[in-house]
Amino acid sequence: MNKSLTAFLAISLAAFGVSAKKVHIPTKNTSLVLEATEGQPLKFLYYGNALSDNDVQTLDAAGTFNRDAYPVYGMNPMNEAAFSAVHADGNMTLDMAVTDVSTALGADNSTVTTVTMADKVYPFTISVNYRTYPGEDVIETWAEATNNEKGTVRLTRFMSGYLPVRRSDVHVSQLYGSWANETRVEEAPLPHGVKIIKNKDGARNSHTSHAEVMMSLDGKGRENEGRVIGAALEYGGNYKLMFDTDDTDYHQFFAGINEENSEYNLAKGETFVTPPLALTYSEEGLSGASRNFHRWGRNHRLAHGNDMRKVLLNSWEGVYFDINEEGMQQMMADIADMGGELFVMDDGWFGGKYPRNNDSTSLGDWVVDTNKLPGGINGLIDAADKRGIRFGIWIEPEMTNTVSELYEKHPEYIIKAPKREAVQGRGGTQLVLDLANPKVQDIVFNIVDTLLTKYPRIDYIKWDANAPIMNHGSQYLTADNQSHLYIDYHRGLEAALKRIRAKYPDVTIQACASGGGRANWGILPYFDEFWVSDNTDALQRIYMQWGTSYFFPAVAMGSHISASPNHQTNRIVPLKFRTDVAMSGRLGMEIQPKNMTDEEKEQTRRAITDYKRIRPIVQQGDIYRLLSPYDGKGAASLMYITPDKDSAVYYWWKTEQFVNQQLPRVTMAGLDPDKTYTITELNRVDNKPLPYEGKKFTGRFLMSNGLEMPLSHDVDWHKRNDYASRILLLNAE
Ligand code: GLA
Repeated sequence: MNKSLTAFLAISLAAFGVSAKKVHIPTKNTSLVLEATEGQPLKFLYYGNALSDNDVQTLDAAGTFNRDAYPVYGMNPMNEAAFSAVHADGNMTLDMAVTDVSTALGADNSTVTTVTMADKVYPFTISVNYRTYPGEDVIETWAEATNNEKGTVRLTRFMSGYLPVRRSDVHVSQLYGSWANETRVEEAPLPHGVKIIKNKDGARNSHTSHAEVMMSLDGKGRENEGRVIGAALEYGGNYKLMFDTDDTDYHQFFAGINEENSEYNLAKGETFVTPPLALTYSEEGLSGASRNFHRWGRNHRLAHGNDMRKVLLNSWEGVYFDINEEGMQQMMADIADMGGELFVMDDGWFGGKYPRNNDSTSLGDWVVDTNKLPGGINGLIDAADKRGIRFGIWIEPEMTNTVSELYEKHPEYIIKAPKREAVQGRGGTQLVLDLANPKVQDIVFNIVDTLLTKYPRIDYIKWDANAPIMNHGSQYLTADNQSHLYIDYHRGLEAALKRIRAKYPDVTIQACASGGGRANWGILPYFDEFWVSDNTDALQRIYMQWGTSYFFPAVAMGSHISASPNHQTNRIVPLKFRTDVAMSGRLGMEIQPKNMTDEEKEQTRRAITDYKRIRPIVQQGDIYRLLSPYDGKGAASLMYITPDKDSAVYYWWKTEQFVNQQLPRVTMAGLDPDKTYTITELNRVDNKPLPYEGKKFTGRFLMSNGLEMPLSHDVDWHKRNDYASRILLLNAE
């Protein structure tokens, strides 16, 4: 749900524990300290482990850095700035000084500290905000700029936040990739000069790079020890993360909306609000920073973040566009029979004048194709009801095709440059609707509203977005404001999503965008989960899901068992391995069940039963990554543990196959050293149980020694293959 601030209740500065000019923003285990002096710019003093009041007061004596907490362009123009603007009279400088510090209680028990600065000459203010939640270790920061000048002020940069990071041996882990290969992890020390991570897709933003980074402060990041700062920009549009390593002792980190081709004309009286930047600090390594993001995200950002997700079958890889009633009925029967809880009908179900038989027509014409589905949606939902499962449906509301009734009626609704033919995307005909236009926002809202009004039993929506913005041009925005397109697109999308969530708070919605194009904390308040990638190959998914888990919890990570050979990589992977990988996220299936053997169905039935047992641990537990696939050691391993440390699930996947290879023994992490855990293997395919099956070990032993994983499975000769994986359930007595 949208957790934006409402109901501010001002409390006094003194009551919040601020003395003198220090502004202390504490979380459970961390502190951010600023210095606010009236008439001076706001200064950054400290971000790290929680400080005592005494430490806060004596910080200056430690020789800490003293740099603007939100540098603006103008009076020190050789430094990079978080914000720059051109005043109505053409003056390109800002000179900001603190006028006020206040704290307020916000929605969801949050506390918001706001430092307001005013330009010394112009009636132009910038407030910098910091939001915290009790029990969390995330600080969200954002800026709000208000123009009270006589005319329009042109904003040329508008970062959400800035953080100076002390040089030591800082390594940055970032996510990169491309379609079907999203969220690869790359780690490198920061170079001198500028490192920029950016996106310009326009509509989606996480296929290539990601709007999140980890900074390991003391050399190469370790999973379960060491100081780490994590940063996640909460935005679904074009972004820029920038590290400037200049001639000071600090790396200057900036994150915000990508200002390129997006200069914003701030009208008189208007306030520009940046998206928040979420920061976390952990001394428990990369996994510690991930846990902080996951907990905060589940509790305060992700829609229904504390609820369990259903086990589903999605029709895409099973039938692609070949939707028909009999096929849907059969898939529903099969998933119900295997213990699944939800069936999702993907692309291909709609179109009136133009039936959607492939990807080149019909987007925008969201009427059921009764030639394919004579019983309509209600007929399918009745069948789902009878089988005791729920029903979900695919839509792509932000898009149209040139071959559609919507486009024929309203060519003015698409994004395109004036005087130019529109560049077309998927299927050679796909176009993006102009969400800057309120009428288009209505259309998007109405698509969902009509579906859910007509078919209130729809339980789940897969919301896709399969095109970038390929033409810079809005037919709605004025000539002067064409540069607002990217920003206004996302404002329009958010406005439509807000209306949808206000009316339909309970429906589950997946964010899909040609696979993993919409994994970001900006969009997730309106979505329950995202599709990690159109690539469902289990081996490649280990790498992608590893990267995803840096910032996003398993409850949000759609992870499906698919066919072998895999449709994207053609790799032949045994069902056991495919299942063991899929079970480390939000488990689902992306397969034609009628092509599965009875034995495979039985194996899957057992896996789904086991998954339901471990679902609360996986979807709501704390992650401890143990052995990275990127380290090239031949295996990867991670675990989830309940906060009370009574139960854990341990995953181990072999990532390479060589005869007589030596793999490391993985030591566990995060357990209670003094608790004794009983080991149960899940998804067992071996003829003989593992030697430690049913045995008890202390957390101390498991964390200092660990358990040996056999390199292969003990199965009959004809079932042997080159894969090995294990899932162990650990239960404390
Ligand atoms: C995108 C999605 C897929 C599927 C297709 C349907 O590629 O990522 O999962 O829904 O669209 O056209």
